[in-house]
Amino acid sequence: MPSPFLTPGTVAQADNVALLHLRRDQTIPTILRATDDQNLGYKEGKVSNTRFGSFPHSTLINQPWGSQIVASKVDTGSRGRRGPGNKRKAEELDASGTTTPAEEESSNLKKPEAASSGFLHLMYPTPESWTLSLPHRTQVVYTPDYSYILHRLRARPGGTVIEAGAGSGSFTHAAVRAVFNGYPTEETTGKKRRLGKVCSFEFHEQRATRVKEEITEHGLDGLVEVTHRDVYEGGFLLGDPDTGRSPKASAIFLDLPAPWLALKHLVRKPPSGAESPLDPNTTAYLCTFSPCLEQVERTIRVMRQLGWLNISMVEVNHRRIDVKRERIGLDCEGIRGATVFPKSVDEAMLKLRTDDERAKRLRLAHSDGTRVAYSPEEDSTMPKDQQQATYDMGRLVHRTESEIKTHTSYLVFAILPRDWSEEDDLKCRQKWPSNKIDAEPKPAPKSRKQQKKEFKELRLQEQKEENEGRQREEEQEKQPTEGTGDV
Ligand SMILES: C[S@@+](CC[C@H](N)C(=O)[O-])C[C@H]1O[C@@H](n2cnc3c(N)ncnc32)[C@H](O)[C@@H]1O
Repeated sequence: MPSPFLTPGTVAQADNVALLHLRRDQTIPTILRATDDQNLGYKEGKVSNTRFGSFPHSTLINQPWGSQIVASKVDTGSRGRRGPGNKRKAEELDASGTTTPAEEESSNLKKPEAASSGFLHLMYPTPESWTLSLPHRTQVVYTPDYSYILHRLRARPGGTVIEAGAGSGSFTHAAVRAVFNGYPTEETTGKKRRLGKVCSFEFHEQRATRVKEEITEHGLDGLVEVTHRDVYEGGFLLGDPDTGRSPKASAIFLDLPAPWLALKHLVRKPPSGAESPLDPNTTAYLCTFSPCLEQVERTIRVMRQLGWLNISMVEVNHRRIDVKRERIGLDCEGIRGATVFPKSVDEAMLKLRTDDERAKRLRLAHSDGTRVAYSPEEDSTMPKDQQQATYDMGRLVHRTESEIKTHTSYLVFAILPRDWSEEDDLKCRQKWPSNKIDAEPKPAPKSRKQQKKEFKELRLQEQKEENEGRQREEEQEKQPTEGTGDV
């Protein structure tokens, strides 16, 4: 079954996970089923009840993603009546012919009737929306962090990511989308093309079981392999901790209380002689996620001892800035969020004068016995030519959103160069033998600085030679010439 997280298609299909989007900050994940054991008793089959009404799944299945679905009136008439005594026996079901119990039951379902109000939007799941709607079993990694982590880990289609611990599976879903390049089918498993995969480890038994169930429900079997293990002790091999298969990972994410205890397993040649969980042919990229600096220090110390390079620490501080206009003034009456109060002494005086004049007019009209129609425009404190458009009113202010969902931790990144053996060196020499290097290397082009220096030196040399020549000539002139005296 293709996963709606990776290839959602155009319509919501039965037995797939879907998100019931109620409003910006409220989304309910559900598995779409016409009938379900948990919803026995509704004549319409499986029903999701929300604050905006009841939604029988028969109104959601096969609807295009993004559709607005209207709530239904549901019949709870038979709820609770279906006790254990009323359950049909297995033999009875077997004998009931070709239709499966679900098919039979769905054909007996009551057609839902639209309610007078209430609706939701039917959305396909994404790692981001899943992070915001998943049932929390632990603290989770949020989108601002995991998008940056996956980028720094070079997680890309066809890669293998090791993750520990799995926790609530928030990071797992983002990681599998980053490495996804196809579903494992019988035709592809034997071939050379490497499929992206996430190898997830979790030592808490119930959490490991729940993550495995969710992976199956979300159609991610074969793309995510969850192992129930204490990675400090057992390491990262798949199957047996000592003799199991290597995941051959090039990216590792550790969200553990003591990541430094797991690092001893992330080496090229484990001292135990077991296989390394890292891909020997590529650089390994590692990230640890720790809330305290003391944890960061210990992790970095062990990273250095084990030969990890390019170690750096980052804290992702994601803030959304809320920009709005702050409107104050008596002319802001009826505007949502505005403070209706004089914004200046002039405005307060104008208001007093207008009120006074209106009171006078009313008194006069009362004594005359005539009716005065009230006009809010007349009452406005602002002269008409000075009145502003609503969107342009007030002072522009901005505030950072305080309640943004993000769990700030320190991210430590490091890389471990690929394994390099003597054999690799030999292969490399054979492929690129040193005699292939140019016999006469061309002289490197001279820089302008070098050219200037050489020119200066040449000039000096010439001047020196000129001076020496002149000196010699002068000396020769001074000496009396032999045999030239007067006779
Ligand atoms: C903060 S949660 C991880 C949350 C996860 N990254 C997410 O996004 O949902 C930490 C998890 O590590 C698990 N854990 C702690 N020590 C472990 C160990 N030695 N081996 C495997 N898992 C471990 C805990 O059980 C917990 O579920």
